[in-house]
Amino acid sequence: MPTTQQNAASSVIGQQTPRIDGPLKVTGKAMYASDFPFPGILYAVPVQATIANGRLQKLDTSEAEKMPGVRAIFHRGNIGKIFRSVLGPGQLEGITDERRPPLEDDVIRYYGQYIALAVADTFENARAAADAVRASYNEQKPNVNLDLQPDNKSDVVETTRGPRKRLQSERGDPETAFTSAPVKVDQTYVTPAETHNPIELQGTTAMWDGSMLTIYEESQGIFNLRSVLAQMFGLPKENVRVITKFVGSGFGSKLWPWTHCALAVAAARQLGKPVKLVISRKMMFQSAGHRPRTQQRVRLGATGEGKLVSLMHEYVNDRAMLDGYRESCGEATPYHYSVPNLRVKWGLASRNIGSPTAMRGPGAVPGLFATESAMNELADQLEIDPVQLRVLNEPKIDEGKKIPFSSRHYLECLQLGAEKFGWSKRTSEVGSMKRDGLILGWGVAGCAWIAGRFPAEANVELRNDGSARVASGTQDIGTGTYTILAQLVADKAGVPLNKVEVVLGDTSLPPGPISGGSLVTGSMVPAVFTAADNAITSLLKVATTAPGTGFENRKPDELAFETGRVFVKADGPANGVSFADLLRRANMRLVTGNGKSEGTLDEKKPKVSLHSYGCHFVEVTWQPATARLRVNRVVTVIDAGRIINPLAGRNQIEGAIVMGIGMALLEHTIYDPQNGAPINSNLADYLMAVNADVPQFDVHFLDYPDTDVNPLGARGIGEIGLAGVAAAITAATYHATGVRVRELPIRIEDLLPSSILA
Ligand code: MOS
Repeated sequence: MPTTQQNAASSVIGQQTPRIDGPLKVTGKAMYASDFPFPGILYAVPVQATIANGRLQKLDTSEAEKMPGVRAIFHRGNIGKIFRSVLGPGQLEGITDERRPPLEDDVIRYYGQYIALAVADTFENARAAADAVRASYNEQKPNVNLDLQPDNKSDVVETTRGPRKRLQSERGDPETAFTSAPVKVDQTYVTPAETHNPIELQGTTAMWDGSMLTIYEESQGIFNLRSVLAQMFGLPKENVRVITKFVGSGFGSKLWPWTHCALAVAAARQLGKPVKLVISRKMMFQSAGHRPRTQQRVRLGATGEGKLVSLMHEYVNDRAMLDGYRESCGEATPYHYSVPNLRVKWGLASRNIGSPTAMRGPGAVPGLFATESAMNELADQLEIDPVQLRVLNEPKIDEGKKIPFSSRHYLECLQLGAEKFGWSKRTSEVGSMKRDGLILGWGVAGCAWIAGRFPAEANVELRNDGSARVASGTQDIGTGTYTILAQLVADKAGVPLNKVEVVLGDTSLPPGPISGGSLVTGSMVPAVFTAADNAITSLLKVATTAPGTGFENRKPDELAFETGRVFVKADGPANGVSFADLLRRANMRLVTGNGKSEGTLDEKKPKVSLHSYGCHFVEVTWQPATARLRVNRVVTVIDAGRIINPLAGRNQIEGAIVMGIGMALLEHTIYDPQNGAPINSNLADYLMAVNADVPQFDVHFLDYPDTDVNPLGARGIGEIGLAGVAAAITAATYHATGVRVRELPIRIEDLLPSSILA
């Protein structure tokens, strides 16, 4: 393993660092968006359509309006103007997955669509009033058909993010190469709709002061939210302030604004009071995003020795009627393995469902389930070890973009994982491995995820009490951003972690990145470092110019700053002065510096391919008599560049593996074919992996700094840990049971035939 260049022996970079916000959370002092109290606050509860397709014919609010505590029942006729927003002007502005503003028309496109809003003095009164609103509809049969075929076969399709070519990547002649390949896999893989279930529900508290709008919302991207709201309410951006101090996770559901937010803002405007609207768990399943269902055909052609000659990946996801969310399942396909002939193509299928959105590892997670499953099937057909098959097809460059990888150690991940897991003891025959009366199944899969940077800005202060402050308008969605930024500044300023104040989650701060794509850490490193360097430059200038500092006769370039001390280079740090003392001598409270770094994602001609890599080795146990399948052991190795905080990093990967077990065995949002309603829309019926479902995980990080991403070489972690888990579990399940499950989640019914045969 390479050694990393730590700035000083005492550096906190790379150290297991507990969350600096942990005490606030466990003592209940952390203020989440709906925790802020305001005098005279009113509560809003939406009224929802009970059909998924048709028109609202009549809305009767008369009974609801007379109910106790009710201030208003809003509908299309009295909510006031809400404009449509568009993408832009910046790359990450104006983004929303459901473009139609709430209550814009009477057309119902999905079950649970908001048709009115009850506002009252208490939540209970608002809910009672919402229940008392009567609606009648002109109903048509909803389309929630599970077989996904592209509904637009033209070359370019309009998506939520603009027009996109359906042919995502192509090289060589994949059809001919597939036809003549001696060994073939041609299978279709299905992943179901899955719903984000962060502990914290979504919601908005909105208040107006004249033409100034302030909202508290658990957002993964406060600056985009500001831009969307400014457009929807016809305000200049600077009139809108968004505050997000803590987020009880989002997993993508809180990346872009949903219609309930605009409802709260509009109600607050009409009533001249703060309005709080927190949606229910059920609404989270209906109107606030989910991972779409995908149907993916993968064709692999290979030589008898296992060298890939053709790879075709064609996939379709379902989308909402009004919106065009695309699940980019083929993102990893063009570069993951070496193959001369390849085609990746996609389509969208419109359904009467709420708009899908990004859910942890969007695209790559369902995509790698399909392609890694196909690789495992190919290995079994060839009777080659699945690790060996991957080694045989390791690319030298990113063959999709025809550029080198910045830093790729996929094979080392597989090697280390195999060693830690004991993979060499595997016998390949189905059902051949047993322990304590249980049948064991072993499976492996690889994973990959994008790396890079969003544009980011930060401000750093060094203060005369020896403390430092770092501020940026990004947000911590529970992943450790507060702690990472404290580590960066502690390292730069040479102060202990508890002397660093981190301020996030407010659009009045320098613009920070969305908490998406696992890119915050990678994006923030250069911005924070530049800001700290600029604060230090300012400090050295103070040292040479302010009277009484002891450095008045020096030039700034004769001085240096290390471990929190200013000193004459020639004399060494031992003879220096701490920045706190220096500032006090100069009668200054603080010096400050700004830092800004550009994004990498919109580079037209990137020079290197930036990605993270990894793999999962999984053991399942199988009891045929009771059809009981358990995930018993997971070894995961992740190559994500320099790891700034292995504790937070491991926590991210472990959480992702838990979600992967849920994806493989449990999670599945079911739409009622009669009325289009998500049926299992609560935490009792929508099953997710809990502690009882998960074993201990053995997580390892390679530590190769990727300085193409930032000076520390840190890429992101979070989403990558979910990719590949389900493919490793289905492979292990096949190894144990002989049943190949290609449609998730694995159900007991899928496994019963073999248990009966056994
Ligand atoms: Mo992640 S799905 O980019 O929050």
